Formats: sequence, structure tokens, C-alpha cells
Amino acid sequence: MPRKEMTAIALGLIPLLALAVRASTPLSYATDVEPVFVKQCAECHGGDSPKKGLDLSLNKGYANLLQHKSQEEPLMQLVKAGDPATSYLWLKVSHTATEGRGMPRTLFGAKKLPQAQLDTVRDWIIQGAQP
Ligand code: HEC
Repeated sequence: MPRKEMTAIALGLIPLLALAVRASTPLSYATDVEPVFVKQCAECHGGDSPKKGLDLSLNKGYANLLQHKSQEEPLMQLVKAGDPATSYLWLKVSHTATEGRGMPRTLFGAKKLPQAQLDTVRDWIIQGAQP
């Protein structure tokens, strides 16, 4: 095979390799999820009296989500690593919870996070809810 072609093929593989590396590194709360929650949630879930006692402000969210049960649905954990369907957080952000509103709430109701951010939250839980 001519050298030029081989180079072209090798270069073509680089993005594939990058994808493979990304897929094998689990999403992490600090890198992938926290920036979204600090921006979209901490205004209510933060400060002196966070809504439902759930503090999602910087450096507080992970412990809160992994260690606490839901107040609205006390039989459910907020995050059950590996299983979005039994993670109350997922029910809230996907607007499938039966208590209260979907998250993030707004002044007059609730909106949904953009699909890419929802996918990130779901995949983070599926991949083991790493810190
Ligand atoms: C405008 C204020 C506001 C914003 C922004 C907001 N929330 Fe909430 N959140 C609330 C209120 C009020 C409740 C309780 C009533 C309800 O569920 O509607 C709540 C309840 C929750 C619960 C249930 C807690 C429990 O113990 O059962 C979760 C989980 C939650 N929010 C996650 C989030 C996430 C994640 C975001 C950002 C994507 C967010 N919220 C944004 C006000 C807010």
C-alpha cells in the first residue's frame, strides 16, 4: 500500500481512538454533572435553606445525592448508582416523578434540561455515579 494511503488511514483512526478512550472513562460528577447542577439548580438547592434539604451547590452536591433518600419519595434513594429508574433524581429531571414538579423548576412551572445534559445525567448514573 502506498505510504500516502497508509498515513491517511492512520490519521482516520485517531478520532475513533479518541472516541474509544472517552467511552471507557466513566463520566464523573465533578467534571460532567456538577457544572450543570451548579448553574441550573443551586439557586434553589443551595444557600441557607436549600429546597427539600438538597444542597447542589459547588462541592456539596455529590455527597447529598449519593447519601440521602428522597424526601418526597422516602423509599427511593436520590441516586442509586447504576440504575436511573430507581434514582429519584432521574425521575425529577426527566419529568417522570409523580410528586411535585419536574426539575429544574421555574417561577411558573418547570422546564427540561437540554437533551444532551439529560443524557449526561442518565449516563453518569448508569456508569456508576462516580465522583
Ligand atoms: C426555582 C427553584 C428550583 C430549581 C431551579 C430547581 N429546583 Fe429542585 N426542587 C425545588 C422545589 C421547590 C422542590 C420541592 C417541590 C417539587 O418537587 O416540585 C424541589 C425538589 C427537588 C428534588 C426532590 C428532592 C427530594 O428529596 O425528594 C430533586 C431531586 C430536585 N429538586 C432536583 C433538582 C435539580 C437536579 C435541579 C436542576 C436541574 C433543580 N432541582 C432545580 C426547587 C427548585
